[in-house]
Amino acid sequence: MTKGTAWIIGASSGLGLATAEAFAADGWLVVSGARSFGAQADATPAGGIHRLNLDVTDEESRLAFAEEAVRISPRVDALVYCAAVLVLGPCEQTSQGEYARVMQTNFLGMTDMVSLALPAMRNQHSGRIILFSSINGLLGIPFQSAYTASKHAVEGYAECLAMEVRAFGVQVSLVEPGDHRGGSQRTRLHGKAMRADSPYAGAYRSACAVIHRDETGGLSPIALGRKVLKNANRRRMRFRLRVAKPDQRLMTALHDVLPPALSFWILRDYYGKGGRA
Ligand SMILES: NC(=O)c1ccc[n+]([C@@H]2O[C@H](COP(=O)([O-])OP(=O)(O)OC[C@H]3O[C@@H](n4cnc5c(N)ncnc54)[C@H](OP(=O)(O)O)[C@@H]3O)[C@@H](O)[C@H]2O)c1
Repeated sequence: MTKGTAWIIGASSGLGLATAEAFAADGWLVVSGARSFGAQADATPAGGIHRLNLDVTDEESRLAFAEEAVRISPRVDALVYCAAVLVLGPCEQTSQGEYARVMQTNFLGMTDMVSLALPAMRNQHSGRIILFSSINGLLGIPFQSAYTASKHAVEGYAECLAMEVRAFGVQVSLVEPGDHRGGSQRTRLHGKAMRADSPYAGAYRSACAVIHRDETGGLSPIALGRKVLKNANRRRMRFRLRVAKPDQRLMTALHDVLPPALSFWILRDYYGKGGRA
């Protein structure tokens, strides 16, 4: 007897994988999706996790995933959407194609996976939709405009969704991680136009060094997976699950109360120090 069926999207590495492992260890039937399972992909579960190939930017792939997942289990008790990519670069030198790629993975793929999961959830009159946002869904930092825009979109969408689906017994939650270790380098890309002669080169190098340092010294993905699971198992999920170190929590709170010029100064100073360390 399983606790329920969870679709976990973007579960080949990092926080998605840790979350899938936490759900499977807790007795959920996990159907996970990602592009890089390759030959590992199999409807036969390993460690309680079914691994299906899925490219969330491709409609055929999304439909094939949903069809196979429903064949494995007709129920969808939880949808956890972790898939994301990051393109680093200055706003001025980030192309429309790069913005589109990030939005397609982090936001548009997500909205379609929600639409694929909802009919089963409405029929069951129950379901939990857990969407990975970020501290960047709450504030901007230099050279992460595409990612930040996509996560702000996730935040706004989740509020609308929560109100619309409540009548069908479906709950929504946002996970807002600060820096965590273990993310895949495959999904962290530098903008194509960023070259050594860019007017932003110095500030960019500095910000990238800080971003890299903060991620490698970040929190444990295993602990985060357990927190997401704990929230999913609550009778009433918390709408916002913020999992971040105290300085990132503080900055998020200050961002909402300080005059923008002051909060921008703090963040610019922080990300500008990477070159000086
Ligand atoms: N790590 C952090 O510090 C941090 C902080 C804040 C928020 N987050 C959020 O937490 C989530 C996980 O992040 P992570 O750092 O653990 O990243 P990660 O290791 O890079 O994981 C990203 C996942 O997304 C999948 N993915 C990317 N493009 C996809 C596509 N087109 N179709 C299907 N799957 C795709 C990747 O799988 P394939 O490449 O195999 O497809 C991978 O499983 C993301 O939503 C991220 O924004 C992370």
